Formats: sequence, structure tokens, C-alpha cells
Amino acid sequence: MEGIFARRRALVIGGTGGIGRAVALGLAARGADLTIHGGHSAERLESALAEARGKAAAGARIGGFLFPVTAPVNKAAETILARTAELSGTGTPDILVLAWGPFHRSPLQETKPEKWYFLAENNFIFPGILISTLIGDMIIRKWGRILLFGGTNTEAIRGFSTTAAYSAAKTALGVLAKSAAKSAGSAGVTCNVVCPGLTDTEYTGEKEQAYHRGKNPGGKGLSPEDIAALALNLLESPVVNGAVIPLDGGVSV
Ligand SMILES: NC(=O)c1ccc[n+]([C@@H]2O[C@H](COP(=O)([O-])OP(=O)(O)OC[C@H]3O[C@@H](n4cnc5c(N)ncnc54)[C@H](OP(=O)(O)O)[C@@H]3O)[C@@H](O)[C@H]2O)c1
Repeated sequence: MEGIFARRRALVIGGTGGIGRAVALGLAARGADLTIHGGHSAERLESALAEARGKAAAGARIGGFLFPVTAPVNKAAETILARTAELSGTGTPDILVLAWGPFHRSPLQETKPEKWYFLAENNFIFPGILISTLIGDMIIRKWGRILLFGGTNTEAIRGFSTTAAYSAAKTALGVLAKSAAKSAGSAGVTCNVVCPGLTDTEYTGEKEQAYHRGKNPGGKGLSPEDIAALALNLLESPVVNGAVIPLDGGVSV
């Protein structure tokens, strides 16, 4: 039986590690042609590609590349889409998953201007530019899926004592998703945001994992696969659109 995403071209930005990797592998298993983008680690890229190829449908195109996103992020977006086009053949992606989203913790009064720029550019402007660039083709094709990742507890407007810049940018993704849904929902394009709780990944150090154990029900971090299961359901659904969904075990940080 053909996978649900057979002949769909998927791009996962930040798909070589953590939550993005788990989503990328799920897309491969569902038959998508897949481009996996990563930041720095050739080892992680090769490992993700090998596992994706093991799950992929016969004949599916699976490729990937590394490109660390730096300012100006419009140029980074251009480069990533050009490299994706080289690998995947003609046409822009039908499915965009944007997992890369840098975190930073500092009290408001200690957050330097360069951190404000860095967090806003990577967590809000970069996704906005990618959506504006890709959504027109999705509308023309009358099918598209966009999935973004918020931060923990950023499904609503809240105050944060040590993550204001990161969380403000992540909260704004809800406006992007609802705007994309409003602009393109009638053309079969969906855009949703998953707001993960405290999730243990290969990037999480022992100190963070201990924090997660202290906060999360069950005494451990969520797994990337827990988050990917919801993400993949949203990508499969033609009717969930403009949703901002927490998956955090009810934890308040
Ligand atoms: N983990 C959590 O507890 C948690 C909680 C709430 C929200 N989130 C959100 O969920 C999403 C996924 O988070 P995550 O923790 O799995 O991983 P992440 O650190 O946001 O992303 C890891 C991916 O991004 C790539 N990457 C690293 N630096 C990059 C750069 N400068 N430019 C482009 N790509 C780069 C990594 O590749 P390399 O390994 O090759 O560098 C890897 O593919 C993020 O948006 C995050 O904000 C995470």
C-alpha cells in the first residue's frame, strides 16, 4: 500500500536531530520524498539519512544537506530552498516542517540586543519568510502542509521570567499559522503549531534533564517520538488548520 505522503515533497529544516529527526523519519515511513536539513553535524545527517532510507518507500527520493542558519535569514532561507530544489528535483516543497528553533534563557533585564535579534530572526522572521515564499505554490497546487514548533507553554499569551525573547517569538508563530490557514485553507493548505513540553533530546544536558524530571509527570522528559506522533497526525489531517496545540503533559514552566 502507498504511504499517505507518496509523491509529496517534504522538507524538514532541523531534521537531523531531536524532534525534527523523529518527524523526518515519520514522513519517510509515510512515503514522502524527503529532504533533511541539518545545521552542523555530518554524522547526525548521515545517520538520519540512513535511517530514513531504511523506512522509505521504494523509489522515494531521500536526500539532505547541512547549512547553519545565520543572519540575514532571508538569504539563509533562499539558500536552503535552492539546495532543496537541487536535491528534490523540480518544484518547491509540498510539506514544510520547521523544527530548528534556538532556545535562550536569561532574565528580561539581562537580555542583550543581539539575543533579541537572534531569537526573533530565527524563531519568527525565518519561519515567516519561508511561509511567504512557499505558500503561493502550495495554493496553486491546491495542497500543502506547514508545521511549526512553538516553545513550552507558548500556545497562549503568557509572561515568562527567564525566556521572554524566545517565548515571545514562539508565541507569535500562532499568528503566522492562523494567518496561513486564513489565507490558504480553502486551497487545501494547512499550517499548525505544536508547542512541545520539556523534551529530552541528544542536545539536552544532564542539568536540563534533571529539570525536566522535576517538572514532568512521570519524572522524565517527553521523547521526540511523543512530539512527532502529534506532528504527523497534524500533517496527515486536511481539517486541523491554524491550530496551536500544546503537548506538555500539563506542565507549567
Ligand atoms: N526540546 C525541548 O524541550 C523543546 C521544548 C519546547 C519547544 N521546542 C522546540 O522544538 C523544536 C525542536 O527542538 P529540538 O530540541 O528537537 O532541537 P533544535 O536544537 O531546535 O534543532 C535541532 C536541529 O537543528 C539543527 N541546527 C542546529 N543549529 C542550527 C543552525 N544554526 N542552523 C540551522 N539548523 C541548526 C540541528 O542540526 P545539527 O545537530 O547538525 O547542528 C538539528 O537538525 C525547536 O523549535 C524548539 O524551540 C523544544
